Amino acid sequence: MNKVVIKDKTFVPYIKYEELEKAFDKVAEQITADFKDSREIPILLCVLNGSVMFCAELMKRLEFPVEFSSVRLASYEGTTSTGVTRKVLGLTTAIKNRPVIVVEDIVDTGKTICDLYDLLMDAGAGQVKICTMLYKPEVYKRDLKLDYIGMAIDNGFIVGFGLDYDQLGRNLKDIFILEDTQNK
Ligand code: IMP
Ligand code: MG
Repeated sequence: MNKVVIKDKTFVPYIKYEELEKAFDKVAEQITADFKDSREIPILLCVLNGSVMFCAELMKRLEFPVEFSSVRLASYEGTTSTGVTRKVLGLTTAIKNRPVIVVEDIVDTGKTICDLYDLLMDAGAGQVKICTMLYKPEVYKRDLKLDYIGMAIDNGFIVGFGLDYDQLGRNLKDIFILEDTQNK
């Protein structure tokens, strides 16, 4: 695999698709074990845009009845004491009292996933489980349990397989990491 240049930054190969596939198999097996006998049909909730590729890979591996839905998180600045409020956009599926499996591309500080968890619980979800393709353990300091983790990774900036740098790089089949991060 070669280096990839996106705008002003150079990224080097980090995780190959074949390795990601093993993580998809593992996570899908765990979720299937937990939900195959579920009385309520769960909703697989794709957090756009970054999770689009992961969600497709995951969904085709799930061996139980499942619905699909997607959302985006919008941030509004300066409306609360914390500075930023968030709102879920595009939730068209009724989630009241139903199990929701949130599918994220990556959990970094955990702010996004914790905000979304709270918003979904406030909207009356019966249960919210978190599934993330990637996770940066050095950065994550929240108490919220990440139920299904594809792979734990180093604390560097990555692109590919849905993840972007300035909206570019999402279409890369493998994952690449910012060059300087790895040389440190
Ligand atoms: P958090 O709120 O700090 O956990 O950040 C989560 C969101 O930031 C993810 O859903 C990604 O969209 C983005 N993000 C975090 N780390 C990276 C990265 O290394 N590359 C690209 N996007 C990232
Ligand atoms: Mg994301």
